[in-house]
Amino acid sequence: MAEFDLEQELQRMRRVREKVLSEDALQTTAPPKRALAPEEIGHVAISDELYVSTTEHCIEVYIPEEKRNEVAVSEYVVIPLKYQPYKIFARLKKLSYRKRDAIDDMSEIHARLNLEQVSEDEYIEIAELEPISMVGTQDARPAEVRYLPKPNTIVRRVVDADEIKTGLDIPQSGLFLGYVSVNGERITVKSQLPIPYYLINDTSKTGDPLLFTHTLIAGMSGRGKTHTSKNFLRQVVGSKYKMERRSGAEREPCLVIIDPDNEYWGLKDENPNLSSDNEEIVNLKAVGGKCGGIDSRLNVFIANEEGKKYAGSDRYTNFTIPFELVQDFPYLIAGGELNEMQYDGLVRLVQEFFKTATAKTYAKFHQFVEDEGNTEKFLTTFGIHEGTLRAIRRRVSRSYFQKIFDQGANPLTKIYNEAFNEGAVSVFPTDHLSEEGERVVVLTIMSMVADAKTKAMDDREWGTQLGRIPVVLAVDEAHSYLTKSETAQDKIIVEKFIRAAKQGRKNRLGLVLITQNPQDVNDGVLSQISTKILLGMDSEMAEKVNAPKHYQKILPYFEKGRMVIHSPDNSHPLELRGLDFCVVRH
Ligand SMILES: Nc1ncnc2c1ncn2[C@@H]1O[C@H](COP(=O)(O)OP(=O)(O)O)[C@@H](O)[C@H]1O
Ligand SMILES: [Mg+2]
Repeated sequence: MAEFDLEQELQRMRRVREKVLSEDALQTTAPPKRALAPEEIGHVAISDELYVSTTEHCIEVYIPEEKRNEVAVSEYVVIPLKYQPYKIFARLKKLSYRKRDAIDDMSEIHARLNLEQVSEDEYIEIAELEPISMVGTQDARPAEVRYLPKPNTIVRRVVDADEIKTGLDIPQSGLFLGYVSVNGERITVKSQLPIPYYLINDTSKTGDPLLFTHTLIAGMSGRGKTHTSKNFLRQVVGSKYKMERRSGAEREPCLVIIDPDNEYWGLKDENPNLSSDNEEIVNLKAVGGKCGGIDSRLNVFIANEEGKKYAGSDRYTNFTIPFELVQDFPYLIAGGELNEMQYDGLVRLVQEFFKTATAKTYAKFHQFVEDEGNTEKFLTTFGIHEGTLRAIRRRVSRSYFQKIFDQGANPLTKIYNEAFNEGAVSVFPTDHLSEEGERVVVLTIMSMVADAKTKAMDDREWGTQLGRIPVVLAVDEAHSYLTKSETAQDKIIVEKFIRAAKQGRKNRLGLVLITQNPQDVNDGVLSQISTKILLGMDSEMAEKVNAPKHYQKILPYFEKGRMVIHSPDNSHPLELRGLDFCVVRH
């Protein structure tokens, strides 16, 4: 092997480098002589190809040395087209160093050179862009990317709120969700004001209020789901929506909140840690965000269960689940332990009981089912097998049923007008209940809402009432109730909800599902949800909830307040910074 001549190799390298530099110069038809302004990050380069198409794009930016330490992936940039009245709006998706040919890392020369002699200037820094849209000077709406930027055009960060709003296609008003951000920080533009992000909420414009195509708030425990939900639900209070059916009357929604941790009654109070001259609050109000307790609009409804006591809000109304609702929802007494045949048998018995019962109570039903005098009839007339009947009897006599049904005054079927009233916020805490009691209560409320929004329930006063007004049903820890589980009873609930969700737009039902286990929520239900608010979560969860690809790997790093909003009918997916305070007591 010929001896390695370091001197000669260095000379060769110098020559190649000069050639590379002169090629650079050739490509640079009009090299930017002046120094780049602070917002400028580099210019469009061609390392291999520069192209846009209807499927893929390749736009690369040469990052000069003086800018290398200040660019980060995910930043938003624009490239003026110059020959068309558009700018390309893009996200910086990848940063890389490329080798200049002469100092290929694998070459012999490199191995023999002292490492310190090879500095980063021997490499080229390139940023790859993901073009998102084209923003015009006048057009309010963004267009798809269809023109090619000229080589060497200077690329700069966004400097104008309108570039962001148009580029990402963000609604101008609606329900406030947070401020547009990148890498955990709000985007700052010339005006210095953060850019508010809204969910479309206007019935008079095209496109429905997105609340009625349902919302998922997902994230790992402690990452701020409840905080985010309260801030979000507070924005909904006071909105008015046109009822499609009822001759287009405008009505305020009733918010029904299933609250397993007794956290939502604080919506009635001011946040005691906030002063109204707080700069953030002034900001929030300036962009139309709502803040502050809703006071007497909010009612806390406490289900009675024998032996259980509620502690929390100082103002609340007790109620009970009347057994007569089992006529509409027989699965309330089925639990997960009956197989399909046993469940069918139970439904027969429930129907038979309500046909003849004078007192529609659990105690009477229990008697009816247990009555040995009826056994023969059950076996022959209803064709229920003996073993099946035994299983049903075992199930129906579970002691917790007599503790949760018919517990005194205020059956839910009588106080419906208070609980499901226009403009009301009705909070149903359940953490004081036993596990079985909680299941009965939550499933009852959810079923009433779902049925009233899918069937004409005019023979039930509560059904008529719920059908008449927009309803927003928020369910915290939703994975517990809309599960994947395949028991006969769960399937009924889930199917009911899928049906109700599908008709949400028409019937004005909006679901807000809050969960740390989206993987346990039934896929059919998840697929009905158009708006996802994603808080910190591991990448497995991110994948499961179909987070936009480019956020899946970074969601695990999201600290409190950082979220991704994925709502195709509202805007491009993007990162938001929620408020770091709760607009009500939390
Ligand atoms: N954006 C935020 N800024 C500051 N504190 C927050 C934020 N989000 C949540 N927190 C606080 O973190 C704690 C957990 O939040 P929480 O909403 O209860 O989480 P999760 O419901 O996801 O378990 C609460 O004390 C809450 O006040
Ligand atoms: Mg929570």
